[in-house]
Formats: sequence, structure tokens, C-alpha cells
Amino acid sequence: MHQPELLIKQTCLLGEGPVWDDKNNCLYWVDILPGDIHRYNIASGDHTTFNVGQMVGAIVPRRSGGLVAAMQHGFYFVDFDKKTLHAITDPEALLPNNRFNDGKCDAAGRFWAGTMPFNESEPAGSLYILSTDLSVQLKIKGVTISNGLAWNSDNTVMYYIDTPTRVIVAYDFDLQTASISNQRVAVDVHGEKGYPDGMTIDTDGMLWVAYYGGWQIVQYNPHTGASLQRINFPVANITCCTFGGPSFADMYVTTARKELSEADLQKQPLAGSVFVIKNIGPNAGSGPNAFAG
Ligand code: BGC
Ligand code: CA
Repeated sequence: MHQPELLIKQTCLLGEGPVWDDKNNCLYWVDILPGDIHRYNIASGDHTTFNVGQMVGAIVPRRSGGLVAAMQHGFYFVDFDKKTLHAITDPEALLPNNRFNDGKCDAAGRFWAGTMPFNESEPAGSLYILSTDLSVQLKIKGVTISNGLAWNSDNTVMYYIDTPTRVIVAYDFDLQTASISNQRVAVDVHGEKGYPDGMTIDTDGMLWVAYYGGWQIVQYNPHTGASLQRINFPVANITCCTFGGPSFADMYVTTARKELSEADLQKQPLAGSVFVIKNIGPNAGSGPNAFAG
């Protein structure tokens, strides 16, 4: 049985979007609501944060160095060391009640990132791609809380989670053109405790889904819809997971503290911390795709 261990005690309101940097042995993640990007060096214990002055939904590495972020006010290049931002474009400049949430790059280096309304209850969000020429394209409309994204290893299927729908959908994916088609339900998770949030995929093509309010991560076979294993946590709001560490055998997991009462926090004092599950398997995952623009 896999057990989560505390990696670093934190009080993130909405810890999210862990990204492994294998060159520097660092884990990045964000705390969306206060607008912090965190970097933690696993070997040295060095922990640095950069407050970007607005909500930050997701970060991805950039092939030429630095990061790209999807934030409250659109896409930005980020130089974490110099602590500088460079605005790229904001596809929702006219939607002040929305912000970016989860996002990830595909194997061609395009940045897919989705939005959500602050009230988390209307389908006012969308999923976009920032292409390598820095143009933006709308891919999916009518999303309420745009969350987990993953692609299979031959880049023929994309998986996606709009949290309140409580299903993981699959699309046929064309890496060349970024077209998605033939939407279908891959896994129906209505019976699960909590809401499906962030997601990653392992080298066998199995999905790992973090459950907000569900105290767990569940692994699924998206071809059959069956759940394969469950990892329980000492905190309720599990937001996102990614593979990292030597040979990508470990899983890093972010959690959230927002909306927990004093009584809740007494029962889950580690809410908002980052956890690691060591040795999920050798070469269980792979590194994040980087933005190629
Ligand atoms: C969003 C949160 C939301 C949570 C659970 C996260 O991705 O950023 O605002 O509460 O999903 O649905
Ligand atoms: Ca999320």
C-alpha cells in the first residue's frame, strides 16, 4: 500500500499545479488565491516563493528557460530567478469574474489552460490553447471549473476534467493540428467521495486523479472505467498530482486549506501542505512537457 509522506509543511489556501524540474531537482507549485509560485529544492531544502500580484492558476516550464503562467489576467512569461513577469495575452480581458485554473503543455509544446468563474457555479469558463506563435485559440466552451488534463503516450487521446460534471472525458486528439473530437465519458466518478480535480497519467496510460474534499487520489484504467487503487490522505482537499523525483518514480501532491473551518483544521493540521508518495514504481511517469514558444 502506498502511503503519502509530508514533503513540506505549508498553509497554502489553494496549493495546486505541481511541476517537477528534473534538471534542478526542484518542485514548483502554485498557491492560486494569494498568487504565489513556490520552488522547493528537494536536495538542499531551499524554498523560495514569488508573489505575482494576481491569482495564478498554473505554471509550465518553457523550453528556452523560465516558466509560462496562466493567471487571473491571462498568459505571462515568468522569470522566477529575477522575479519578473512579461504579459503575453489575455483571452478573457472582458470577463473580470473569471480566472485561469489548471493547465499543461501537450507534446508539441502548446499550453492548454482553462478558466473558471470565481463563484465556481456557472459554466462561464473555457479551455484555451496558447500556441507557440503566442496566438490563443478557444477549444471548449461552457466549462464550470476547468481542471485536470492528460494525454496518452502516443498522443491520440486527451483526457479532461470539468470538476462539477464528475466525469473524466476523453477526446480523440491530433497532435499535429491540436484538434479534439469525439468526446465521450472515460470514467464516471459520481460514486466517489469528493470532486475530481487535478490529474496525471502514468507510463501504462492509467490516470491518477486528485479528489477535492475526498481525502484521496484514485488510479483508473480509462479503457474500462475501473478504479485500480486508492491512496488515502490525512487532509480532505487533494488538488493535483504529478510524477517526479529520480526516474519519475515518486508522486508529488498539492492540497488546499481554503474554506476549512477551525474545527476542520484541527482535524487536518497539514491541510495546504505538499506530500510525496515515494516509489510508486520505476519510470511510473514522465516529466512535464515544456512550452515551445
Ligand atoms: C479550483 C478551486 C475549486 C477546486 C475544487 C480547483 O481547481 O481552483 O477553486 O474549489 O478545484 O473544485
Ligand atoms: Ca485544480
